[in-house]
Amino acid sequence: MENALNLDTVVLAENQKDIIILDQTLLPNVCKYLTLNNAEDIWEAIYSLRVRGAPAIGVTGGYAYYVLADQLTTTDMAEFVTECTKIMEYINSSRPTAVNLSWALNRMHSVLLAEKDRLSVEEMKVRLRDEANAIREEDIQISRNIGAYGFELLEQIGKGVGIMTHCNAGTLATAKYGTALAPMYIALEHGWDPKKDLHVYCDETRPLLQGARLSAYEMQAAGIDTYVQCDNMASYTMKSGKIGIIFVGCDRVAANGDFANKIGTSGVAIIAKHYGIPFYVCAPSSTIDMTMESGDEIHIEQRKPEEVTEMWYKERMAPEGVGVVNPAFDVTDHSLVTGIITEKGIAYAPFKESFEKMGILPVEKYVDKKKDQ
Ligand code: MRU
Repeated sequence: MENALNLDTVVLAENQKDIIILDQTLLPNVCKYLTLNNAEDIWEAIYSLRVRGAPAIGVTGGYAYYVLADQLTTTDMAEFVTECTKIMEYINSSRPTAVNLSWALNRMHSVLLAEKDRLSVEEMKVRLRDEANAIREEDIQISRNIGAYGFELLEQIGKGVGIMTHCNAGTLATAKYGTALAPMYIALEHGWDPKKDLHVYCDETRPLLQGARLSAYEMQAAGIDTYVQCDNMASYTMKSGKIGIIFVGCDRVAANGDFANKIGTSGVAIIAKHYGIPFYVCAPSSTIDMTMESGDEIHIEQRKPEEVTEMWYKERMAPEGVGVVNPAFDVTDHSLVTGIITEKGIAYAPFKESFEKMGILPVEKYVDKKKDQ
């Protein structure tokens, strides 16, 4: 089984014209890369979770902006800006909850607007390519830093405790290392024994099984003692006393520390509070949206009913015509969060002050604006 750290989630092809993504819908059984270079295919790859995980779709958003802008034939800068705005808006419409997608598109657009009077269109294309590559490179370092802070917590708790996680916030969800799974990769680098010192419990994560298909694959391929549990077994495992800490990722953190993550996360946090288990959110600062005061403002993606009633089953498992609830994310209240691990350090309540002290501030938005902006 290939160590997932050796797989590239999203890269720019050598020809500098295509995006290459690992198709995560086929994992863990098939490892297949897709070459993308048109807007509809990129949109579909994000919507269908071929590339997924907040930081990874941010990196894809940056490359999408560059690759599609590079195909524009105009040499007129005003027209170039108009077309790039359309690209940004179209790609941003693929998924609404993870702020990293709009964050990366906004970052690319800021570069365009800041330098449009100084550069020719041809020079701008090179500048945009450099920015997209920088987003990917930075993501690798950010994930390593989050892993290092998370590893400090593991050291404090001591070797051998169980670690629970929900969904997949591993290397597959980022450019490399992941966020919630990064502490375990860093522990291995520090010589921790993968079988004795690390025991990772992955929630299966209905309905798209990112925990069973992706986190369990990543952890097992790294040699770690790994368990998959159905989502409704998390309480049983926590009650058993096996779990010493919980690490989860996030798709958007509001200024007050409320955060959206894969559906089911809030239930895990509520149970963890009941059993007194430390619950940490792993968040690159790009996932912290200081323009949103609380989680009430986060737009929750609703997905197709078939993901619940038909996907993964040999035959349909719910009656035809029944109503289906299928939100992709839920919002966990900040009162349930022990700490938020960023690349700049660990934030504790009150989170807004903690973020501000770290220099995490609202960013300029051209897409993903609030209704009144
Ligand atoms: O729908 P997905 O698979 O994109 O959801 C992913 C998650 O919820 C992750 O936990 C989150 O994006 C953080 S990834 C570092």
